[in-house]
Amino acid sequence: MAEEKFTKRILCIGAGYVGGPTMAMIAAKCPQYKVTVVDINEDKINAWKSDELPIYEPGLLDVVKQARGRNLFFTTELEKNIKESEIIFVSVNTPTKTFGEGAGKSADLQYWEKCARDIRGAAESDKIIVEKSTLPVKTAIAMERILSANEKDLHFDIVSNPEFLAEGTAIRDLENPDRVLIGSKETENGLKARESIVEIFANWIPRDRLITSNLMSAELSKLVANSFLAQRISSINSISALCEKVDADVSEVAFAIGKDSRIGNRFLNASVGFGGSCFKKDILNLVYLCETFGLYEVAAYWESVVKINDYQESRFVQTINSALFNTVTNKRIALFGFAFKANTSDTRESPAFYITKKLMEEKAHVVISDPKALKNAKLDLKGYNNLIEYEEDPYKAAYKSHAIAVLTEWDLYKQLDYQRIYDKMEKPAFIFDGRNILDHQKLFDIGFNVYPLGKPHLIHFKEA
Ligand code: UDX
Ligand code: UDX
Repeated sequence: MAEEKFTKRILCIGAGYVGGPTMAMIAAKCPQYKVTVVDINEDKINAWKSDELPIYEPGLLDVVKQARGRNLFFTTELEKNIKESEIIFVSVNTPTKTFGEGAGKSADLQYWEKCARDIRGAAESDKIIVEKSTLPVKTAIAMERILSANEKDLHFDIVSNPEFLAEGTAIRDLENPDRVLIGSKETENGLKARESIVEIFANWIPRDRLITSNLMSAELSKLVANSFLAQRISSINSISALCEKVDADVSEVAFAIGKDSRIGNRFLNASVGFGGSCFKKDILNLVYLCETFGLYEVAAYWESVVKINDYQESRFVQTINSALFNTVTNKRIALFGFAFKANTSDTRESPAFYITKKLMEEKAHVVISDPKALKNAKLDLKGYNNLIEYEEDPYKAAYKSHAIAVLTEWDLYKQLDYQRIYDKMEKPAFIFDGRNILDHQKLFDIGFNVYPLGKPHLIHFKEA
């Protein structure tokens, strides 16, 4: 399609887990729009142009290929593309601040603010700026102030369009979302900008799933959605600790309560802890926000969700340690999975990172296995690399090990030949199922001492 035929020119700044797949989907569904994705990281952009995409996401390459070169473009050239676009999505990272005021809780907005200044500097016409990154409530106002402070008499409308896609299912979530939330100011210009964004998604999503709201509600909804999801996991994880004490089975409890349609059955899988780039960061953001407004009880309530998650991770390591006769020193421990969940190569905030570090502190010999995340695991554990073994093949990872700990729920781990694995392990052999995905009775019958989460332990000797 010739350049002038495009009915909208959309730019996205930040070609990460959110910006890349979201723009690929928009471009694939809307050939009438020109969609350009820009990133400061040249390697990443080159990867987006190749068949080795910078992130692993099932189905993503097919979607990218439908549109790449037709109406989807990846580049590092920012200024020219700012000038050319009417709509700019900003999807740069907003990590938790590691310094100064709010360190450890509030979001580091330096990249966002830089984007706003870049846009202001390059723009020659009015634009709609769409917040895609998760941001503290009221960021839109601050950004509007920065953007409005221009001498060119340009007008910028800010729209909040928070991302609800989950990694591993990003393509499905983008193609068929529960809802898309679009918030704007309720002024004449704000409402026009809102409609312009609604129009994009209406190309493939039914209108009744396109929810609109004011700016603050949209920004807050993102933080609250993630906090509620994380809260469910912490709730069931807290119950898993109790189940182990009273010989209850957390899966049975989750099933029973999930049958209540008011509670629902999703997000009730007890685990070694939640990870990912969003949950912890967003809860801490909410906590910081509450503290800022003096809502200390509310802040403490949400902070406890993170505390239970930390507790669950440390409880898992303690279980390993005490089962292995109170010492893991020099014992070979195979970790099955390092990604923060299955079907992704992403390891950000993965519980596996904490568990590896704790085991290393105890001088265990840790072998990490994962079908997709070993590259990221190596980067995360850079300083320890010569002490850790990385082995994609789980059979080799488990060879001569004293224990296996399942940390990611990859299907692959359900299908292994555990008799073959058991035969080559040190005895007594232990398995810790941090995701409750294995057939525990079968493993016990093979000879393993089995430690599921939130269920009675299946052990061949009397527990101390
Ligand atoms: C990001 C945010 O972290 C999250 O809060 C939000 O909900 C969605 O956007 P994600 O896409 O997972 O999430 O982040 P990441 O994969 O780190 O991608 C951000 C990209 O922005 C990186 O590729 C980085 O190179 C790029 N970037 C960052 C820029 O292009 N310019 C900058 O100034 C800063
Ligand atoms: C999450 C939100 O789901 C998504 O809407 C938002 O846009 C970004 O943050 P994501 O981090 O990709 O998505 O993964 P998610 O599937 O929500 O899982 C987060 C963590 O919770 C993972 O570590 C997962 O293993 C864990 N989890 C999830 C559990 O431990 N138990 C469950 O029942 C569900």
